[in-house]
Amino acid sequence: MIEIRTCGTVDDLCDAANPIAHYLGHPRPTEAWATTWLRNFDLPRMHMAVDRRGIIGGAGAFSLEMTVPGGRTLATAGVTNVGVLPTHRRRGILRALMRAQLDDVHARDEPLAAMWPSEETIYGRYGYGLASFAMNLRIAKVYSAFRSGVDSYGDARLVDAEDSADLIQPIYDAVRTVTPGMCARSTEWWRHRVLRDPVDVEDPHPKACAVLEVDGEPKAYALYRLRSSMGEIERELEVQAQEVMAVTPDATASMWRYLLDIDWAKAVVARFLPPAHPVVLLLARPRQARPALVDGLWIRLVDVATALSRRSYSRDDVLILDVRDDFCPWNAGRWRLEAGSVTRTTATAEIALDVADLAMVYLGGFTFRELWHANLIQELRGGAVERADSLFRTDVGPWCSDNF
Ligand SMILES: CC(C)(COP(=O)(O)OP(=O)(O)OC[C@H]1O[C@@H](n2cnc3c(N)ncnc32)[C@H](O)[C@@H]1OP(=O)(O)O)[C@@H](O)C(=O)NCCC(=O)NCCS
Repeated sequence: MIEIRTCGTVDDLCDAANPIAHYLGHPRPTEAWATTWLRNFDLPRMHMAVDRRGIIGGAGAFSLEMTVPGGRTLATAGVTNVGVLPTHRRRGILRALMRAQLDDVHARDEPLAAMWPSEETIYGRYGYGLASFAMNLRIAKVYSAFRSGVDSYGDARLVDAEDSADLIQPIYDAVRTVTPGMCARSTEWWRHRVLRDPVDVEDPHPKACAVLEVDGEPKAYALYRLRSSMGEIERELEVQAQEVMAVTPDATASMWRYLLDIDWAKAVVARFLPPAHPVVLLLARPRQARPALVDGLWIRLVDVATALSRRSYSRDDVLILDVRDDFCPWNAGRWRLEAGSVTRTTATAEIALDVADLAMVYLGGFTFRELWHANLIQELRGGAVERADSLFRTDVGPWCSDNF
């Protein structure tokens, strides 16, 4: 008999996080890990699966605030640390953990849940959909030139990464408030999840922080590591960009120029950039950066009516959606969307779709037309897909810079 409960002690937390640690090849999380983890995490937000011998599975959620189209922020459960020990796989334990977690998220009035799944085949059945692609790049030094006419501005200076929060947070917030999918960061989040390494990561390469100033004003920053290793004939250096943010296009170009010009480095590597990141367009030879599309953030509309009514729409129109949601049936049925207000209706539906597909269009990462072409959604009234797209259109594509 397996029971799902919330963690009550630090020991519970370490045991509930142990399954995912097992898959990551890490030892059982320690009390020191838990102390740091709990600076950003509420203990009762970790669910554990318990059998007669002990804890064999876990699933946690951070309490986040995520930007949605239009600039509002929505309370969002940031799903994390999900794992079931290999001794207990495929007995429905993940399903039971997801049941308990989504019921809890609903009871907490969080309209959204979000995650970075390990495998893309698992979470669609619980209503999660890919909200946006992300892009990985490897820009070799020999191909790092910008196209002609792109100038660099300002002065970069190195600051101590651990003390940089006050300087760089306003830049982050300027980007976050206009970018759907980005999350507000508390001081503790900055300190323990962005600027410092987690206690269980022993990385000998310290984080560096470069701030770009124009006329004395910080306009961009880059958090990165220099990784050196012994190559075949000489020591080789790679710049690993962790986070690069800028408030203007000039500052974006200049901050990337700084990274690309670091001497001795053979390449700049960046993961999980927005899929249409401007650095690709700045390069004289973009194909040599081998831009690769990968999964970005996944989201779930836990409360469809609230989530839909809190984002903005690009025009006034009426749209009737018929939403399927087997896992969270309170969302299922026909919804009338008009001028940002969302109400139940018995009117004839114009588009029928699964809640996981609604998640794909919610932040603007995909269009209704793309889903219709893929045969994922049904257009029940001619022209509805086009009208839905003109309603849901966003100027800024979704992106999340926090991988939780
Ligand atoms: C993924 C994991 C949590 C699944 O746990 P589980 O208890 O075996 O899952 P369940 O038995 O509840 O299965 C639930 C459903 O998901 C499916 N599923 C589970 N893991 C899957 C996987 N890796 N790939 C594809 N489908 C999977 C099951 O087939 C089942 O499908 P059904 O509902 O249609 O019958 C577990 O295998 C694990 O810990 N994996 C390694 C760590 C990991 O990937 N964690 C997730 C991080 S985001």
